[in-house]
Amino acid sequence: MPLNSPWRADFPGILALAAEGQTYLDSAATAQKPQAMLDSLLGYYASGAANVHRAQHLPGERATRAFEATREKAARWLNAASSEEIVFTRGSTESLNLLAYGLEHLFQAGDEIAISALEHHANLLPWQQLALRRGLKLVVLPLDELGDIDLAQAATLIGPRTRLLAVSQLSNVLGRWQPVSELLALARAHGALCVIDGAQGAVHGRHDLQALGADFYVCSGHKLYGPDGVGLLHGRREALAQLQPWQFGGEMVLQADYHEARFRPAPLGFEAGTPPISAVIALGATLDYLASLDDTAAAAHEAALHRELLAGLATPEGIRLLGAPQLALASFTVDGVHGADLAHLLTEQGIAVRSGHHCAMPLMKRLGLPGAIRVSFGLYNDGEDLQHFFAALDKALELLR
Ligand SMILES: Cc1ncc(COP(=O)(O)O)c(C=O)c1O
Repeated sequence: MPLNSPWRADFPGILALAAEGQTYLDSAATAQKPQAMLDSLLGYYASGAANVHRAQHLPGERATRAFEATREKAARWLNAASSEEIVFTRGSTESLNLLAYGLEHLFQAGDEIAISALEHHANLLPWQQLALRRGLKLVVLPLDELGDIDLAQAATLIGPRTRLLAVSQLSNVLGRWQPVSELLALARAHGALCVIDGAQGAVHGRHDLQALGADFYVCSGHKLYGPDGVGLLHGRREALAQLQPWQFGGEMVLQADYHEARFRPAPLGFEAGTPPISAVIALGATLDYLASLDDTAAAAHEAALHRELLAGLATPEGIRLLGAPQLALASFTVDGVHGADLAHLLTEQGIAVRSGHHCAMPLMKRLGLPGAIRVSFGLYNDGEDLQHFFAALDKALELLR
């Protein structure tokens, strides 16, 4: 049975790339966009742009309504307790930086922050830099051989000095769901704040943030088939109350004088300056589109693609997978073949996959690898895309060995 995607035609970008001879298998870096998102983006500009939260005129009121409607949709999408728990940022990286600055006042020298060995730089560097600024200890939770955060070791490393735990929900290199509920329970037992990096996890399936119970959850619009330049920070009401503003200006202020000011609470207090209005509105259209899909069919399609990817990678000799990927992607190296040479030959054949350290340099060092090739896909990919990749891989390996 050929593996067709019923949603492929909804994504003009994937069709345009295919017409150009490009097979796009890099959705973990950024996803192609549905027509509904493009229509919304153009529709906002074509019907008259206006700033939000500050004008009483009709275009301003219209833009504010559409902007705030996305907040409601995002809250529904993630099952947040209230739309006031949704803060718009520029992406996961900015959300995590906001947290590292906005929570800084809670830390004292000697406190510990626990992250894991597989974190993307976005969920490592803000905490590392906070630790350096405040004299904190950054504790790195090790992984087991499958690529999961090792719970037994985590239980010995998370303790009374742990003030915050920040871990990925789904690894962008190893493609495995991490045991976040168990980790949250360990951290909560010591009263630590919990941050989940959902940049990859949010893209696959629906997540119930009330059930998850983390203090903060972050994700990016562009990986979720939406526009770039916009992301979300979800915070539980009580957690947001502990966060201090980190950027100042615009409508985040309640009262301003020359020498002092008071600031709004969340969410507007964390949205300084003109936000990415068109992107927020178009993210709302993307969420409408995603909500209209059959979740079960989407999950089954992704699972079937992943099975086919792993089966195809099992055939050529010398391929070593990083960990045991469960969904969405697979990263690999090939014995005796330089990753950069292989990446070059795949690129020459129109295969768009990612090679290198995948913004997780410490993980690569820990695995003793200079880098890896990563194949990742979205809803729009089909069996033919994978066949193109396998054929190109065979040809490249024939040339290189
Ligand atoms: C796990 C993970 N966290 C964070 C990020 C950063 O996301 P963004 O670049 O959209 O801020 C990424 C992006 O690849 C990611 O994969």
